[in-house]
Amino acid sequence: MTAVDPTRLAPWAALAEHARRLPHLAELLDADPDRFHRFRVEAPRMQLDLSRQRWNAAVRADLIALAEAADLANARRLLFGANRLNPTEGRAVLHTALRAPAGERIDVDGISADAAVHSALLRMRELTDKVRNGIWRGATGKPIRDVVNIGIGGSFLGPALVCDALGSGHRPTVHFLANIDGMEAARLLPRLDPTRTLFVIASKSFGTLETQVNARTVRAWLLERGVAPEALRRHFVAISTNVAAAAEFGLPEANLLPLWDWVGGRFSVTSTIGLPIALGYGFRTFERLLAGARAMDEHFRDTPFAANAPVLLALVELWNQNLLGTESHAVLPYARALELLPDYLQQLEMESNGKSVRRDGTPVTTRTGTILWGNVGTNGQHAYHQLLHQGTAPFSAEFILPLNPGHDLDEHHRWLAAHCFAQAEVFARGRAAARAQAELEAAGMETEAAANAAPHRAMPGNHPSTLLLLDDLAPESLGALIALHEHKVFVQGMIWGVNSFDQWGVELGKTLGAAIHAALADPGRLEAISDATTRALIDTFRARGG
Ligand code: F6P
Repeated sequence: MTAVDPTRLAPWAALAEHARRLPHLAELLDADPDRFHRFRVEAPRMQLDLSRQRWNAAVRADLIALAEAADLANARRLLFGANRLNPTEGRAVLHTALRAPAGERIDVDGISADAAVHSALLRMRELTDKVRNGIWRGATGKPIRDVVNIGIGGSFLGPALVCDALGSGHRPTVHFLANIDGMEAARLLPRLDPTRTLFVIASKSFGTLETQVNARTVRAWLLERGVAPEALRRHFVAISTNVAAAAEFGLPEANLLPLWDWVGGRFSVTSTIGLPIALGYGFRTFERLLAGARAMDEHFRDTPFAANAPVLLALVELWNQNLLGTESHAVLPYARALELLPDYLQQLEMESNGKSVRRDGTPVTTRTGTILWGNVGTNGQHAYHQLLHQGTAPFSAEFILPLNPGHDLDEHHRWLAAHCFAQAEVFARGRAAARAQAELEAAGMETEAAANAAPHRAMPGNHPSTLLLLDDLAPESLGALIALHEHKVFVQGMIWGVNSFDQWGVELGKTLGAAIHAALADPGRLEAISDATTRALIDTFRARGG
């Protein structure tokens, strides 16, 4: 697909004109009491309240015209069939095939992706059942009690999000070892019985440094604790495209689940990378996650743009960022179970769309990607919401509230919902100084004192937000939530014209890190380091005995 400059498409100028003229969000809300219904979007397992976005029907229509002008319909069609949507890596993009029903034929380079996916699912199911039913046994013949996923980035964040959302108390217990910081392994390993632990090395490339180092540490730990070398295969399985590297690590093919280069790391939670979910919660749970993602895929594929949740979410955030000038996007799950959602979305959005050139190598002309951050409510209200309400940085927000919270503490859930709704309202409306003064006077304060105090109590409002009401925290809902955001990222990337599926920006730091690592271990390698500050840092580190 050719990449066009979206700012040169006719609807862009119309949108810029809207942005100049649109009134304060409070005015938009007051002008139309039915706004909630007019800007509500229904999608599988959720509804989106877009009424507190700073837009109106004309803006929405022009955004849809922009998507049409950018040939989004064609891009969407390509996403659901064999394609080459990742030109800089020469790869197809087919994460939707991971949850397509058996028999829906999708061929990539003469290989049928659907058959590959369904045979991998079968192997996942067999492995899961063996581990969960105590048939798979560790070196001393005991069943597995703990599973440790060793992986980082897309080989960590998605499964960690889903496992955390599904909750604890399951068997086997699933842990995650991602960071190269030895503290992570040092804290985790003493809690495990080596003879009852299965390690899942999750690495598409089987070459990621953090994963390699952690896997080697764990292998040495198993051997030190008496697991015989020939029994290691009872404690390791791997998920990778790189069969040779996995074999070199000592893993027979029987212990290796496949992955494919047409699944991007950050789009891989519904692939074999989701194995820890199946191991911890059962294969049926994983299937339900896939069903939820599939339902959202179908919604995205078949729904006209005007009622299409991922499309509208993508467009409205593009509008916020590019036309209204928001500088960051806060993801605020009002759900402890979704605590890891901002982390997951950071990789999905920022690694995908943080690009400066379009697919054809020409520079972009507008801000791409989104600085995304966030944490659970209500905790954030007692931390950074002060800045959101009264600071000067323009932002947009996405609240996520499950209607059914997965526990029976109703009073808690009513309070949680009340605060979620309240924050969204205050973001939108704010409070004018005059109103603050009137409220203070009504509470008995002298006029002059109230006038002095009012500016400190005023807040500008006009901050756009989406409220995503998720039906519940069932696996289907989690799958739909994940696929919603995958497609949002895809839509934005297509309109910006960038390749959402490569990540060349992370490579230089990795190469340099390897050279610095060599110099930290051997001063003779210091010459290879050209930056004087880095050389001084290496000296400082070595001087403290590192
Ligand atoms: O460094 C970035 C990255 O390549 C991500 O895109 C990817 O999800 C992560 O590293 C892990 O990669 P792998 O699964 O190959 O170990």
